[in-house]
Amino acid sequence: MEVIISKTYDELSKAAAKAVAKTVNSKPNAVLGLATGSTPLGLYKELIRMHKEEGLDFSHVATFNLDEYVGLRPSHPQSYHYFMHENLFNHINIAPHNVHIPSATAGNYRAFCESYEKSIAACGGIDLQVLGIGSDGHIGFNEPSSSLGSRTRIKTLTKQTLDDNARFFKDGEKVPIYAITMGVGTILEAREIILLATGAGKAEAVAKAIEGPVTSMNTASALQLHREATFYLDEAAAGKLEMREYFEWIQANKPGGAA
Ligand code: PGA
Repeated sequence: MEVIISKTYDELSKAAAKAVAKTVNSKPNAVLGLATGSTPLGLYKELIRMHKEEGLDFSHVATFNLDEYVGLRPSHPQSYHYFMHENLFNHINIAPHNVHIPSATAGNYRAFCESYEKSIAACGGIDLQVLGIGSDGHIGFNEPSSSLGSRTRIKTLTKQTLDDNARFFKDGEKVPIYAITMGVGTILEAREIILLATGAGKAEAVAKAIEGPVTSMNTASALQLHREATFYLDEAAAGKLEMREYFEWIQANKPGGAA
């Protein structure tokens, strides 16, 4: 596991965008796993810039989003369908048929979740998975106590997540309490994983994920089991790491001076 600490959110977003661009440039038909929330906005902005100014090509890239609220139509401004089109897909040359986002209005959720897993496998698996982290340590919507072997399914969100996400909804509008999410087991099958975290509100969850025991009570801690997982943090999100100096030492002393 690698930990990269950036001075600012902007720097973190650019570092993460470089990792995504590297995957897309080395494999034009790469399969990306994507996340929503406020954290990856800077990353998506930088990818759009790279597409427009540097020709980063998404024409053969396929994407699978982590999750979606149950009950929100794709046109709802807080749906993750809407979010992804607004903040990324409408601004790059991705083919609409290569975009996959869980369908939260599907009648038969169990069959839908199985078919989502099959579609990931049919595309050859996820090459690079982008993650945020909840203040309760969740990845996707895998709330505390989610099985570390879980697959795509419906989850009931915690009160903490509902409170965290209420800021995105209009006054009086309820945050949906159910979501479809890839499982921890699904996420761990990605060939490479990058997790982005910004701000002091994430510092505790981040420290537990990196330095605590592997536990379903902080599902991001499952990344400790992955061979190619990198945490991109800003200083505030890294604020509770006991090993912080060591992580910075590692970055400053990479073998061969590689960045
Ligand atoms: P955020 O959400 O990026 O909006 O903080 C992260 C998450 O809940 O996974």
